[in-house]
Amino acid sequence: MKEFPLDFCPNTEGIFAYLNYLVPATRKQILDILIEGLKRMEYRGYDSAGVAFDISEETNNKSAIKLVKKRGKVKELEAALENQNGLSYTKEYDIHCGIAHTRWATHGEPNEVNSHPQRSDENNEFVVVHNGIITNYKDIKAFLEKKGFVFESETDTEVIAKLAKHVFDSDNHEGSFREIIEIVVQQLEGAFALVIMSTHFPGECVATRRGSPLVIGMKSKAKLCTDHIPVFYSKGIGLKQLNEKGDNRGYMAGLAPNRMFSESEYHTVGPEKEVEYFFASDASAIIGHTNQVIYLEDDDVAAVTKGCLTLHRIKRATLGEGGLNNDRKPNLQPSIRKVQTIQLELQQIMKGNYSTFMQKEIFEQPESVVNTMRGRVNFQENKVTLGGLKDYIAEIKRCRRLLFIACGTSFHSAVATRQLLEELTELPVMVELASDFLDRNTPVFRDDVCFFISQSGETADTLMALNYCKKRGALIVGITNTVGSTICRESHCGVHINAGPEIGVASTKAYTSQFISLVMFGLMMCDDRISMQERRKEIIQGLKKLPEQIKEVLAIDDEVKKLAEEMYKEKSLLVMGRGYNYATCLEGALKIKELTYMHSEGILAGELKHGPLALVDKAMPVLFIVTRDGVYSKCMNALQQVKARHGEPVIICNVDDTDTIAHANRHVTVPHTIDCLQGILTVIPMQLLSLHIATLKKCDVDCPRNLAKSVTVA
Ligand code: F6R
Repeated sequence: MKEFPLDFCPNTEGIFAYLNYLVPATRKQILDILIEGLKRMEYRGYDSAGVAFDISEETNNKSAIKLVKKRGKVKELEAALENQNGLSYTKEYDIHCGIAHTRWATHGEPNEVNSHPQRSDENNEFVVVHNGIITNYKDIKAFLEKKGFVFESETDTEVIAKLAKHVFDSDNHEGSFREIIEIVVQQLEGAFALVIMSTHFPGECVATRRGSPLVIGMKSKAKLCTDHIPVFYSKGIGLKQLNEKGDNRGYMAGLAPNRMFSESEYHTVGPEKEVEYFFASDASAIIGHTNQVIYLEDDDVAAVTKGCLTLHRIKRATLGEGGLNNDRKPNLQPSIRKVQTIQLELQQIMKGNYSTFMQKEIFEQPESVVNTMRGRVNFQENKVTLGGLKDYIAEIKRCRRLLFIACGTSFHSAVATRQLLEELTELPVMVELASDFLDRNTPVFRDDVCFFISQSGETADTLMALNYCKKRGALIVGITNTVGSTICRESHCGVHINAGPEIGVASTKAYTSQFISLVMFGLMMCDDRISMQERRKEIIQGLKKLPEQIKEVLAIDDEVKKLAEEMYKEKSLLVMGRGYNYATCLEGALKIKELTYMHSEGILAGELKHGPLALVDKAMPVLFIVTRDGVYSKCMNALQQVKARHGEPVIICNVDDTDTIAHANRHVTVPHTIDCLQGILTVIPMQLLSLHIATLKKCDVDCPRNLAKSVTVA
């Protein structure tokens, strides 16, 4: 089996929709399913939530949709739903569609009007839930305002619902739901995942995506027709045409699908027709219901009509749009979407006995690092095989240079391994922050190999940098934790870090697994170099001991907690070190600031005298990381400089290093490992420290303010 690209994906805000076809459910059951879907995605960070559902029962069977939206948490939406006057909760629906959303404010403050679903008009004829950003919404809004539409929210999303109504009305209500939405999405620019329902098409829904993930789960007691869904192609239509004509007459003809397959739908076979569909931006919202899913590709339009799911695309991507595909050939998208079985278990994403997901994920590291190495590192023969890279290693060895491109914590994993990769590959290694890399229009060549490191596999800056490098013909290597994510799919080859789902917004176990994945790559690159064999052996044996050593570090949790109790009222913390531990300084400081809202800075000890030393006095909290490696004496020198300015550093050093401990005001120790792996052990006390300070300061550990788990907006 090809190890990469892989098969499951998450995102930022939350979309969840549920459609039952001939599976009777009461309104209460339907609303519970929608709310539960939102709760599964709560951890991603949001500030308001809403649902839309059918209320034709209450309107004498005249098709109608009700919207209920709330600022705040899903439980507030749940409470609001329980208190709706005049709604029957016991009435059973054989066919029903409901959509739901958790919003993280981008356009307009978090309030009920700006929450999703957004609507076309007061009658809720078209309602939409949307993740992402519509960059040309102002143009579309101006166009619709000229047509008489009055906008009620500050969102970019509202243009989608209103444009759908405009297209529908302009075409004398003749087009199918899917055809209408195809016209709408062709006018949209930006990144989005959408699910739309309409009073004109009860029991149907249409979903689409571009640059933001969307997955569809299918469930039926009956047999389902196929393990894949063919994709139809439809001709495109431009915004220019829409603007020039000013209305939409005649567009439906232009969009008549170009049939290419005889088998067109996903449906049940045999006499039983019951089927349920779940649409979500995050597979974790679906796994409680079914493990049979398809992942939509960019520009796929999925429609459910009479219980049958069909997939359409406006047009095939061309080389100009898509660059090279995964075989480095012109990018013509595959014309089927496979029904996949998700491996993720529900309990894998639950908190268990831990108080927060972050705590659970820190304490999972002895196992997650094993999972990263499982089946890849042979400790007896000192061999490393990464299945997703092995066919490309010869090409990588011939490259001009290696570029490692990422954001935040993922970037730090590249900083942490750069020195080792330079040593093992003997190639120039560039480590880049994705946003800066793009700002600089960095030159990239066909014989470059570009690595994109991303826990989520969806980070917008990283993805844009990937597309930038792909268009220039470089080999694209993805290092992700998220099977089926966009980075995963867009890469020519790569490594799945296998850390397991990371739910806490602050990345912890993904960092140590990214670190190890990059080390494994370096080891694979030099397995035929005689001169490297001793070094390779000591690193591989170091990797073997890591899980036990991580357990030893986790055992000092109480000591770190005491440290946190002494520090949590401070305003600032400087984290200093150099060499292999510099990445720990950067990552430790990032963890402190994002979780505790305290100022913190990672400082390269070699730079102290070039400026940062001015910050040091008796009152400035300093944490120094000093381990027994090639830069030990230089670190001790810097430590003396700090002490000479009356600094009182807390030291993270190796167990039994009494010389170093003698210089510490306070200290915590970690086991000794080989120099290039030491950063895995020194980062864990920093993860624990930030967790404890955040808890003492009563900060939301899993959802720090202003942050989202997956940053799909640039
Ligand atoms: C920090 C953190 C972020 C992410 C960054 C990139 O704890 O989690 O800095 O590392 O947003 O995200 P990914 O790795 O998903 O591309």
